[in-house]
Amino acid sequence: MSILKKDIKFNNGLSIPQMGLGTYKLTNKEEIVESIHAALKTGYRHIDTAVIYKNQKLVGEAIKSSGVRREDIFITSKIWNDSHGYNESKQEIDLILKELDVEYIDLILVHWPTPKRLECWKALEEAVQEGKVKSIGVSNFLIEHLEELLKVAKIKPVINQFELHPALTCKKLVNYCNANDIVVESWGTLIRGKCFEIDQIKELAKKYQKSEAQVCLKWAQKNNFVIIPKSSSQKRVIENANIDDFDLTTQDLELLATIVEQRDGPDPANFDF
Ligand SMILES: NC(=O)c1ccc[n+]([C@@H]2O[C@H](COP(=O)([O-])OP(=O)(O)OC[C@H]3O[C@@H](n4cnc5c(N)ncnc54)[C@H](OP(=O)(O)O)[C@@H]3O)[C@@H](O)[C@H]2O)c1
Repeated sequence: MSILKKDIKFNNGLSIPQMGLGTYKLTNKEEIVESIHAALKTGYRHIDTAVIYKNQKLVGEAIKSSGVRREDIFITSKIWNDSHGYNESKQEIDLILKELDVEYIDLILVHWPTPKRLECWKALEEAVQEGKVKSIGVSNFLIEHLEELLKVAKIKPVINQFELHPALTCKKLVNYCNANDIVVESWGTLIRGKCFEIDQIKELAKKYQKSEAQVCLKWAQKNNFVIIPKSSSQKRVIENANIDDFDLTTQDLELLATIVEQRDGPDPANFDF
C-alpha cells in the first residue's frame, strides 16, 4: 500500500497516518505555506508541530488556506518542558487549540520526560475527557519513564516519538513499545540531513537510484514507524513521499545495521531539564 494511504492503529481504536510532515525550524510564513500546501497536495494528511516551534499560528493558517478539510488532517502538537506542571499544562492545551485555531487536536504529546511529566499527563487525560484532544502520547520517553507512566495512567499513551533512524536504532525501546502496544514514531529519520554523509546509506541510494533521504524513510517504513520528515521545499516534500517504488532486502538492512551509532539531538537520559 502507498505510504500516503497507510494508517497505523492506536491502542485506543483511533489511528494515525504513517507519513506526516515535520515542521521543526519552519517559522517563515512563505516556507510554511510552501511546505504544508505541497504536502497536502501530494496527499500527506498529517502535520507535526509543537508549542516550542513557535509556528502553530502560521501552521494553522496554512492548513486552512490549503483547501483540505480540517477533519481530514491529523494534527500533532506537544507541551513544552517548562509547562509540565498541572495548571501550566492545562493552559498550554488551550494555547495549542487557540494558536492552531481548531476545535480539537488529534494528538498531544508530553515533549520530554521532565520531572513534572506525570502532572502533565493528568492534565492531558482530563483534556481527552473534555473533548479537546482525541489521543495522548509521549515523546523522548525511555523505558523507565514508560514503565512509571503505565503504572499510574488512567489513559495509556498511544505513541512514543523519539530520535530514531538507521544510525540510532534504539532496539530495546522499540521492542518495549511494540510489546506494550505503543506506536513508535521516528523523529530525525533523515538524521537531520546527515544521511547524505553515511557510506552505507549512500551505497543503497546508488543501488536503487533513490536519494539517501528516501533510503532512510524506507528503512523506517519497513519497521512500521510513523515518519514525519521536515522539508521547507516543495520538491523535497514530494520526494520524501516517493518511496513506494523500491524496497530494501534483508541484506540491505544488514548493511544499514553496520552504521556506527550517532545521536543528533539531546539524550533523554542526560537532558538538563
Ligand atoms: N519530539 C521531539 O523532541 C522532536 C525533535 C526533533 C524533531 N521533531 C519532529 O520531527 C520532525 C523531523 O525531524 P527533523 O526536522 O529534526 O529532522 P529530519 O526530518 O531528519 O531532517 C530535516 C532536514 O533534512 C532536510 N531534508 C528534508 N528532506 C530532504 C531531502 N529529500 N533531501 C535533502 N534534504 C532533505 C531538511 O532541509 P530542507 O528543509 O531545506 O529541505 C532539514 O534540514 C521535525 O520537523 C519535528 O516535527 C520532534
